[in-house]
Amino acid sequence: MASITHSIEAHAERLLDRLTDELRDGPVDFSSLVSEELPMRSIGEWLQLPPSDYPLLLALAHDQVFTQELLPSASQLALSDTATVQLEFYFRALVQERRKFPGDDPVSKWLRTWDELEADREAVDETVYLLALLVFLAAPETTATLLSSMVWLLSEHPRQLGWLRVHEECIPDAVEEVLRYDSPNHIISRIAPDDLTIGGTRIEKDRMVHLMVGVANHDPAHFVDPEVFDVRRKASHLSFSGGIHYCLGAPLARLEASTLLSALLRRLPGLQVAAPPVYAPRVGFRRIVELRVVGT
Ligand code: HEM
Repeated sequence: MASITHSIEAHAERLLDRLTDELRDGPVDFSSLVSEELPMRSIGEWLQLPPSDYPLLLALAHDQVFTQELLPSASQLALSDTATVQLEFYFRALVQERRKFPGDDPVSKWLRTWDELEADREAVDETVYLLALLVFLAAPETTATLLSSMVWLLSEHPRQLGWLRVHEECIPDAVEEVLRYDSPNHIISRIAPDDLTIGGTRIEKDRMVHLMVGVANHDPAHFVDPEVFDVRRKASHLSFSGGIHYCLGAPLARLEASTLLSALLRRLPGLQVAAPPVYAPRVGFRRIVELRVVGT
């Protein structure tokens, strides 16, 4: 994180330069101009992907995610299948390229690490391809939703926004409360390895169980006044899951959100949300497709 903090700050500043320019001509969509761009640039730069590929990769990530929805339609699954084939081609080619021209990027480093552990090169390439694909797919949408939700929820609570301006040290707590209040990911699924009883409910071996993250994050047995948005709450939530699958990218998502919020408070004190966000019709992965903002 320390090595990419500076470049995330630089990306946030550049995106706010563009936002400030465009706001002079009237309302603009914060979601497409900033929220979608910052995570794509952050993960793209970290993996050292060519910036000219970002628009295609973002579009493929949006289509691919339908596979992870609770009840995808046949046409959504078809979109997802097509995107998966293109992403597979892209990330397999990336692994081959990094084999030929290794550098100091994560994919080259993963190859070096796995080569020391496993003699079968094909198996190593397969593992690193899957890891690169997973890390990429997990990053842009989830974080974009966090960034737009953060701007929306704080605009809905102007007194808390004002309080944050004089308590910038509490920005990380505000990010956690946004994550708790409206998690970007609402479903975490597991398959029971054995017959189990959880919280008094019997679950048979091989049954799939969905943890509804939004409900858990608003559990009155765990949170005082769970429906109240409170940036001073020290929220412990399940938005990044728990246990061995705890989100690998949580520090990056937190860093992007804190960096952006701090830059917004400093540079755009008059920014206001002009209309409620427009959400994609999904259950598992929230996505804000539009968030109109005005002011500077
Ligand atoms: C606000 C943004 C994000 C949210 C809400 C989020 C949420 C989650 C959740 C809920 C899981 C666990 C799924 C499970 O338990 O089955 C997860 C896993 C994961 N996330 Fe994130 N994520 C975010 C950002 C990121 C970013 C930026 C990256 C990449 C840099 C990333 C990479 C991963 C990976 C690789 C896993 C799989 C970990 C494993 O299975 O061991 N995530 N994420």
